[in-house]
Amino acid sequence: MTDPKRINGFSRLTKAEQRHWLTDHFLRPEQGEELSRFDAQDETLQGVIDNFSENTVANFPLPFGVAPNFVVNGKTYAVPMVIEESSVVAAASAAAKYWMARGGFRAEVIAAEKLGQLHFRWSGHPSRRAALLPALCTRVRAQTKALTERMEARGGGVRNITWKHLPEVSEDYYQLLVSFGTADSMGANFINTVLEAYGQELRNWALDCPDLAEDERNLEVIMAILSNNTPNCVVKAWVECPISEMAIPKAGVDPHDFSRRFKYAVDIAREDPYRAVTHNKGIMNGVDAVVLATGNDFRAIEAATHAFAARDGQYRSLSQCRIDNDMFRFELTLPLALGTVGGLTKLHPLANVALDVLGRPSAHELMGVMAAAGLAQNFAALRSLVTTGIQKGHMKMHLQNILSSFNATATERTLTTERFSGETVSHHGVRAFLEGLREA
Ligand code: MEV
Repeated sequence: MTDPKRINGFSRLTKAEQRHWLTDHFLRPEQGEELSRFDAQDETLQGVIDNFSENTVANFPLPFGVAPNFVVNGKTYAVPMVIEESSVVAAASAAAKYWMARGGFRAEVIAAEKLGQLHFRWSGHPSRRAALLPALCTRVRAQTKALTERMEARGGGVRNITWKHLPEVSEDYYQLLVSFGTADSMGANFINTVLEAYGQELRNWALDCPDLAEDERNLEVIMAILSNNTPNCVVKAWVECPISEMAIPKAGVDPHDFSRRFKYAVDIAREDPYRAVTHNKGIMNGVDAVVLATGNDFRAIEAATHAFAARDGQYRSLSQCRIDNDMFRFELTLPLALGTVGGLTKLHPLANVALDVLGRPSAHELMGVMAAAGLAQNFAALRSLVTTGIQKGHMKMHLQNILSSFNATATERTLTTERFSGETVSHHGVRAFLEGLREA
């Protein structure tokens, strides 16, 4: 190995050795020191964090914020949000307060089914599936009883098994599409364990099932894995009120005019994918922040959500707006395969705190709160976009970030904030003003 930047056995080095190696080959010495600056004081805690992943050379902190005044189905929540984008928590809080005064958010879980797939090749004819499936189901279920019993006691387990043929992959390609209930856990481990056991049993079935002819005994399991496409694990959240109540404090906007423009913005995102992606990104600002805070899997949620947004063949807005009989209704429907027990929800101490802040919700309850956070975020973004424009609200936080980049003191922060109040903030302008202050 001639290139010194290549290494074998990096994962076997101690953390100190890994940091040294990284610094020697890729960083300046002072940057190397930065790696240890965020270490947890508490060794046990650091051990917990180190065990989440391999090769952890540093902790990477993100702000853990709280958006209070979220009323969802009549219950008040302070919603924990982990996010780096400066305006998100402020926007969620403002939208939550706005709707608190108008009856709050409503949320309803439409379905909570998760899916897994066992992919295989088989030498039998597709028409034989209907006759063979019932006994096959009974067999795989019986053989995996020990794995599913505890989940069944919690109200979950294997729900349904279908046997699909997808000749577009190859003439002999099949899959068992298995639906699961996973109670309050996200269920990835449970689903994958059950599917792998099904795979083993499917091989046995091909070898010894008396109903199979000799030319039906060739079976090759390709893989077994959950599907992150969860179109039947869906929650709807909505807000509604008479249009006459849709006033925007201090904006001086007519409620009818505001509602009309707001609905226009949502309708554009229903029809135009370029706008829909940005619109949905705004929704995910709220959703992902709660997903992260509660130790859920944001990649799974993102993947499922965007597949859902394109389920009719065109990528569309996840939210819809209706104006009927002078009532304004704004709703969001999205898939959220979540857990409130197990996995990182239990292991990450702050995820545990976040769930405490939320009152230890069930997975269904958390789906509702998360959807409300997404809807609030969407409402806040569109409210700004169709009234003042987005930059006005962003300026305050943008300014604070620029000040941080110049290591501004508390006094410098106050003076600069006063100077730029109500004005467009630019990096260049702030630097010039700070330099002026520092030279004086
Ligand atoms: C920015 O993070 C999110 C927005 O672009 C969302 C939107 O345009 O609806 C403001």
